[in-house]
Amino acid sequence: VIFSNSNQASIKVAEEIAALIRKKQEANKNCVLGLATGSSPIRVYEELVRMHKEDGLSFHNVITFNLDEYLPMEKDNRQSYWYFMHEHLFNHVDINPKNIHVPDGTVSSDKVIDYCISYDDKIKKNGGLDFQLLGIGRTGHVGFNEPGSHYNSGTRVITLDHITLVDAAPAFLGIDNVPRKAITMGIATVMSAKRIVLLGWGENKANILKKTIEGEISPQVPATYLQNHKNCTFVLDTGAGSQL
Ligand code: GLP
Repeated sequence: VIFSNSNQASIKVAEEIAALIRKKQEANKNCVLGLATGSSPIRVYEELVRMHKEDGLSFHNVITFNLDEYLPMEKDNRQSYWYFMHEHLFNHVDINPKNIHVPDGTVSSDKVIDYCISYDDKIKKNGGLDFQLLGIGRTGHVGFNEPGSHYNSGTRVITLDHITLVDAAPAFLGIDNVPRKAITMGIATVMSAKRIVLLGWGENKANILKKTIEGEISPQVPATYLQNHKNCTFVLDTGAGSQL
């Protein structure tokens, strides 16, 4: 779906998430959300916060699992995805802190494999992801599933692509400060979501979105795996959709 601007699009996506949260509340069920960082979802989170403050949208039944975190990374570091999520969403809504899951960037190397397996287990034990929000990186990554990611991959440690390091460099005041690794939900984890919405804004995403949506499904562009999902929508603005 191509919207004339990302603001309108973000409001629509926030409305869909809010409707799902409310529907689950009426059925006395938890709502399990897979969440993304980066600039793309910021406006969606802003709108959800507004709905909480002005329209009485409660997050008491919401359980969240974030896609990824740099490794190593301390939670209170301003570059951490933990920090990002609290700054943009969690600090401003009534979510129970126990229901927030962001991969732990401080886990030691001897424990990280078990930790990643337990992250996927926790998602399953909570009934699976009802909704997964995604952005896309210039390499075609979703989460941090870089080129080469297998469709069957679970949550794991990944080495970041050079292009991803370049894109992250400004936030870290130089490429040398960007962690070389990350923990990311796997492709299989993402694909297990009942519903997926991928956000893409601006012309600098147009090329990778053309490959993602119209190209051959390939591990070289991991986002192409989404073509096989039964309930996935790419929500773009005119710039991002300009090469389709
Ligand atoms: C990072 C995140 C991705 C995100 C991507 C794009 O690499 N790990 O989940 O989709 O950035 O970021 P932006 O939305 O700022 O373009």
